Amino acid sequence: KRKGFIFDLDGVIVDTAKYHFLAWQKLANSIGVEFTHEQNEQLKGVSRVKSLEKILSWGNITLDNEEFTGLMAKKNEDYLLHIEKMDASEILPDVPRVLELLEKQKQGIALGSASKNAEVILQKVHLIQKFSAIIDGNGVTKGKPDPEVFLNAAKALSIAPENCIVFEDATAGIKAANAANMISIGIGDASVLHEADYVFKDFTEISSDFIQELIKK
Ligand code: BG6
Ligand code: MG
Repeated sequence: KRKGFIFDLDGVIVDTAKYHFLAWQKLANSIGVEFTHEQNEQLKGVSRVKSLEKILSWGNITLDNEEFTGLMAKKNEDYLLHIEKMDASEILPDVPRVLELLEKQKQGIALGSASKNAEVILQKVHLIQKFSAIIDGNGVTKGKPDPEVFLNAAKALSIAPENCIVFEDATAGIKAANAANMISIGIGDASVLHEADYVFKDFTEISSDFIQELIKK
């Protein structure tokens, strides 16, 4: 059976979560707001606008529109400096193995990311041609945990949501996948991603047999 496999990007395909962290931390500190790994966890999967809103609320800071836009641009400039240096060596372990397995089995493969930098990153790591549909931060009106991004990906693949499987590293993304009535697979820490249907530390833990089971289901 043809299923739809929808991949989040940051923290699932590539370890850009660490670059988002560095850029947000720099920005937060520059306006006098402390920024910890626990706070960063709450920004995973969350859009750029929403992330800045959260940081400002943690620091009890209010800004006018111009200042807000300025900080958003600054964060992205900083982030893009990290991205510029990326290559295929930053693809997370066994992601290519799983993509190739799915490709061989003629499964639908899509990207479902909140990032507006998704295409640039996929190009940098030479994976863009693996995806028959790319839904990113430019293609949605409501961010995760809203299911829109994954529902749009299912639609682009012409596969019903209940026949789709989502790989996510963020709580917001797991919630979005569950709300879309898809199978949710957490990549990361099981105690953080406890709402997922399955959790694996990374793709090295995902066997071919497990993928076959998902396809057969
Ligand atoms: C998500 C990341 O994938 O994309 C978030 O987990 C990030 O940390 C969001 O804020 C938006 O990304 P970008 O690249 O458009 O700033
Ligand atoms: Mg992510």
